[in-house]
Amino acid sequence: MDMDAIIEALGGAAQVQTLLGVGPSAVSNYRARGQFPEYARIRIWQALKARGITVDPETLSVEPSGQANPIASSNSTVSPSISPATGLATVSIPQSPRILLIISGGIAAYKSLELIRRIKDKGWHIRCIMTASAEQFITPLSVSALSGETTYTELFSLTDEAEMGHIRLAREADAIVIAPATANIMAKMAYGFADDLATTVLLATDAPTLIAPAMNPFMWAHPATQANQRQLKIRGVSFVGPDSGDMACGEDGAGRLAEIPQIINAISRILPGNGRLNGKTALVTSGPTHEPIDRVRYIANRSSGKQGHAIAAALARQGAKVTLISGPVDIPPPAGVHVVAVETAQDMLTASLAAMPVDIAICAAAVGDFSVVNSGVNSGANSGANSAAHKIKKSDTGDAPQLFLQQNPDILATIADHKMRPRLVIGFAAETDDVVNYAIAKRLRKKADWILANDVGQDEQPVFGSDFNMVHLVTENGVEPWSEMSKHDLADQLVSRIAKEISA
Ligand code: CTP
Repeated sequence: MDMDAIIEALGGAAQVQTLLGVGPSAVSNYRARGQFPEYARIRIWQALKARGITVDPETLSVEPSGQANPIASSNSTVSPSISPATGLATVSIPQSPRILLIISGGIAAYKSLELIRRIKDKGWHIRCIMTASAEQFITPLSVSALSGETTYTELFSLTDEAEMGHIRLAREADAIVIAPATANIMAKMAYGFADDLATTVLLATDAPTLIAPAMNPFMWAHPATQANQRQLKIRGVSFVGPDSGDMACGEDGAGRLAEIPQIINAISRILPGNGRLNGKTALVTSGPTHEPIDRVRYIANRSSGKQGHAIAAALARQGAKVTLISGPVDIPPPAGVHVVAVETAQDMLTASLAAMPVDIAICAAAVGDFSVVNSGVNSGANSGANSAAHKIKKSDTGDAPQLFLQQNPDILATIADHKMRPRLVIGFAAETDDVVNYAIAKRLRKKADWILANDVGQDEQPVFGSDFNMVHLVTENGVEPWSEMSKHDLADQLVSRIAKEISA
């Protein structure tokens, strides 16, 4: 049963136009392409059924009630044929990605209409939710007309709830896209608000989520919005844009909705199995180490773990299976990452070797270079083999104890020289002077492929604990200065570079 036969069976092209709410040229296009658009297929399946043309329900996802689930059965081709087993016409329908688009309020809301069309061009299934403020800019009717689906707006609409609860909306999406995303919806997401349908669905989902922000440049640059963005990135949410340029509000700066093709590419990347590092494995070391002096004291450094954690999150967003080996930090673990918490350099090395083999190793930890040799703690009455097992006491004479240190193993160098050496080994070089030259030497000495060199000696621009970083990328091909950016943006840039290298 080919396209023509299906159209004939449904009563001809005019009937198909009425059934799908399209014009004559659309039906000609379907004939030419040899397939119906995705949203139309279930209607066609139902209409064929109503006309007594039995199709094999096994090939469609059917709800317990017997009613086909248009989402679960969404597909990219309809190719009915006769099943040799049952003698029934079967419709072979491969699953296509299910996108839930959340449209929040803002002048860029009208661009979501174009986005819906392009999503459908990809053959993806789309459902839309609009916030109340989005309805001030575009109507649910135009959104439904383009998506071919009901547009959901109300959390407590009895009809909607009966047809499609918010939990089901959340579950039946392979990816959630918020475009345009206002500062308000980002803030609500960051803090876990659930006061309307959109935010309730966002709280109830574990699907990969993409935010395409669009707002006034001051609102985007505001520390509150920036902090919310960072928080969401840590939780594994992806971002596309905003772009810079003239804004509808008359101001100029970063805040424009990303271009539609850019958003489509970003959606492709977050779809399960579509990440640029899909199927790859990575280990990331992050944070400081604590090298114990005794039961209560330790030697540490100022590393916050923000850069290493951001890299682990960015790798995971691109589909890599990530083991994050983290020293003691005060920041939350990134979403979708296996975290191994360690304390000392020796523990970090052991955990790193246990995580191998991997495709990519990134050593972002500020590993303590020295550890205290227990038996070497010399504090008069407190000296002795077990002194580090107890709190070292002050002496009556006022003599301070002497700590004896030994050099810790170098994790980066060990990984780079290992018989299971990862395909790409990347380290950082925290330097206070002659940054690039030390980094070049460090890359060779430690046999790393790339070194990200950063100057940690500037009082006015501290790296440790900051949300920003400025590095030079040192590779065998030379030195590239990268502009100052947030640690999350740096992580995204690095991961995109890694993806290019790995696929080369
Ligand atoms: N590194 C490591 N294990 C160590 C020390 C450092 O894996 N014991 C890694 C860091 O994670 C970083 C790189 O080596 O990727 C460089 O760290 P850095 O502190 O800049 O250099 P050091 O090796 O400590 O050398 P130096 O202190 O002499 O500059």
